[in-house]
Amino acid sequence: MSTAATETTPQDDVAVPDDVLVDVRGLKVHFPIKRGVFFDRTVGHVYAVDGMDMQIKRGETYGLVGESGCGKSTFGRALLRLEEPTEGTVLFDGVDVASLKGETLRRKRQDMQMVFQDPLSSLDPRQTVESLLLEGMQAHGLAKDGKAATARLRELLSAVGLPPAALRKYPHEFSGGQRQRIGIARALSVNPQLIVADEPVSALDVSVQAQVVNLLEELQEEFSLTYLVVAHDLAVVRHISDRVGVMYLGALVEEADADDLYAMPLHPYTRALMSAVPVPDPTTEDRRERIILAGDLPSPANPPTGCRFHTRCPWKQEERCDTERPQLRTIELEGVPGTHRVACHFAEQIQRGEIQPHEVDVSFVEQVDAQPDDATPVTVEPGAP
Ligand SMILES: Nc1ncnc2c1ncn2[C@@H]1O[C@H](COP(=O)(O)OP(=O)(O)OP(=O)(O)O)[C@@H](O)[C@H]1O
Ligand code: SF4
Ligand SMILES: [Mg+2]
Repeated sequence: MSTAATETTPQDDVAVPDDVLVDVRGLKVHFPIKRGVFFDRTVGHVYAVDGMDMQIKRGETYGLVGESGCGKSTFGRALLRLEEPTEGTVLFDGVDVASLKGETLRRKRQDMQMVFQDPLSSLDPRQTVESLLLEGMQAHGLAKDGKAATARLRELLSAVGLPPAALRKYPHEFSGGQRQRIGIARALSVNPQLIVADEPVSALDVSVQAQVVNLLEELQEEFSLTYLVVAHDLAVVRHISDRVGVMYLGALVEEADADDLYAMPLHPYTRALMSAVPVPDPTTEDRRERIILAGDLPSPANPPTGCRFHTRCPWKQEERCDTERPQLRTIELEGVPGTHRVACHFAEQIQRGEIQPHEVDVSFVEQVDAQPDDATPVTVEPGAP
């Protein structure tokens, strides 16, 4: 029935192309759930990242989106080896990150930096901006010559649009947008190749968000950076990303060039996310497909069998959906390029209109999920996506 063309599996032993900076295969990060007086009994696991396969190309911006709790931050942290992988590999510039230890790991970290959602909690309030920026540079031997270091500090501030006087101030003296600029300057201070920006603008006012996004784009060009931008909002990653990956309960369900993904979302979950984004044009807005997802994200400690999305999927079929986990694969459909991958057994039939959406049984979501405080019945208004 399926017209699957290619399936990627973590076991594929394929050479990494030169244009790939980060190569992730079968990555899993499971957190043990401990019980008992001394928390000495493992009673289960949170499957935060559970089979991620993806590559980030040199110089690109990869946008990673998904609901709160789907594992985006854990994945970003695992790339930088801030979380230990349970299984799978991360190759950074051809080097297996898990194999690095001690001094070699510390030196490699210079190439991979993180920008956090909340700059205030990630910047030590007792340090001046100068000391915050110098810290990383000193740790990596980039501040040995005092004069050169001062010049570098000024250059960094100018790159992120802050005046030299900012060096003597403390984080609390700045606005949210300015603090995020300091966070970005700190990441830049050690000349990284990759920046993982975890919800970099979520905590900022809408008016400031665009400025920070523009700044990230300018810096990318100036310093030849590669970005992984993590967000729960498709609208945020749309303009900044070259490619977008959609994550659901620990793994990608769809990945494509940004324009292709927004033009033709193929996975039911992506279609639902996309249908929640309003369109400025009133005619298109009226005809827009609206898919309201039933229930919350199921608990990553007890993920559904088969397709992780089957408890909420309006296109769920009797066969395969709740028994067989779909792999991320390319599909044979006119107008869909080989770079567009989707993890759904029935993506072709759904796209061709051969399978119609149906109501989702909310009690089923409740039964599997066990935490659907605001479970809402699904309503689907068919129309152009
Ligand atoms: N150190 C940890 N120990 C146990 N569970 C954890 C730990 N870190 C994260 N989790 C759990 O793993 C799951 C994924 O969390 P993660 O923070 O990666 O999600 P996220 O997609 O970044 O969510 P958000 O959009 O809210 O930031 C969540 O259920 C979270 O509670
Ligand atoms: S595999 Fe089945 S349940 Fe999963 S997204 Fe596709 S149709 Fe829905
Ligand atoms: Mg997060």
